[in-house]
Amino acid sequence: MMGWLRSKGKTSNIAAKQDPDSKAQDSTEVSIEEISEVEAFSSSAGSLFAPRLFDETKPLLTVSGVERSFSVGGRQLDVLKGIDMALFPMQLIMLKGRSGSGKTTLLNMIGGLDQPNKGEIVFMGHPFHQSGDDQRTLVRRKEIGFIFQSFALMPLLSAWENVELALRMANVPRSEWKKRTAHCLDLVGLSKRMHHRPFELSGGEQQRVAIAKAIAHRPSLLLADEPTAELDSQMGAQVMAVFRDIIQAEQVTICMTTHDPTIMEVADHVFEMVDGKFINT
Ligand SMILES: Nc1ncnc2c1ncn2[C@@H]1O[C@H](COP(=O)(O)OP(=O)(O)OP(=O)(O)O)[C@@H](O)[C@H]1O
Ligand SMILES: [Mg+2]
Repeated sequence: MMGWLRSKGKTSNIAAKQDPDSKAQDSTEVSIEEISEVEAFSSSAGSLFAPRLFDETKPLLTVSGVERSFSVGGRQLDVLKGIDMALFPMQLIMLKGRSGSGKTTLLNMIGGLDQPNKGEIVFMGHPFHQSGDDQRTLVRRKEIGFIFQSFALMPLLSAWENVELALRMANVPRSEWKKRTAHCLDLVGLSKRMHHRPFELSGGEQQRVAIAKAIAHRPSLLLADEPTAELDSQMGAQVMAVFRDIIQAEQVTICMTTHDPTIMEVADHVFEMVDGKFINT
């Protein structure tokens, strides 16, 4: 049994998006009863601020023998050819590899947006490889946050309103919005810009609002696809400093993709993908 005694965390994130083009073969659905059992030991009473109690030696997520192919123009394109990895609590993990090597494909599967054709993905006791869309969505909304290269903020809403919207979408009680929004904007160093709308913020500031939004519902895992790609090196470094801070403050685990060797220097571990597999793991 996994050593998770996590404080509850009401809720959900709005970020989930694209659906996979096909489902895993042999997708044996897990019953709601089984999911409830998993919930029973992965969560316990608490709040958006309570400390998490967990065994740091037990992985938050394991990926075993994962393969993913796509059918393109009648031909099979093998993108992931046997991926094995484990993410441990409060780690900062990076995926690197040339364009088209499969980093986003893997990130989507870790986040429960897509499923492997073969292999296993277990996140906090939830078998993503054999659970249905609805079950993965429930887990994702509660435990996972997403950050994208292009920030994905609502353009007409202020930084404060963007974060508050995430809480509203996650069904967090209105009484908690003010405190949690202020906390998240403070964590990313934007308390002084809370009333600015995205176009009134720099690229780095916009990405920091996106981080505040992604952690608002207190996920256990933050997935970021090229979060610094549109930023200059100084703003990229600021985003990485924020990542380091929130790992400690929120006890979150971060898995991100990047092409930038300077950014990789702050990782706890870098997985390099070549021809659908990791090398040097
Ligand atoms: N839904 C899909 N249907 C068909 N092919 C796909 C699909 N998704 C991804 N691919 C293919 O899988 C390969 C890996 O794509 P992926 O987006 O994971 O690469 P990446 O490593 O994230 O690249 P980049 O660094 O450019 O973001 C690419 O060749 C891509 O064309
Ligand atoms: Mg990509």
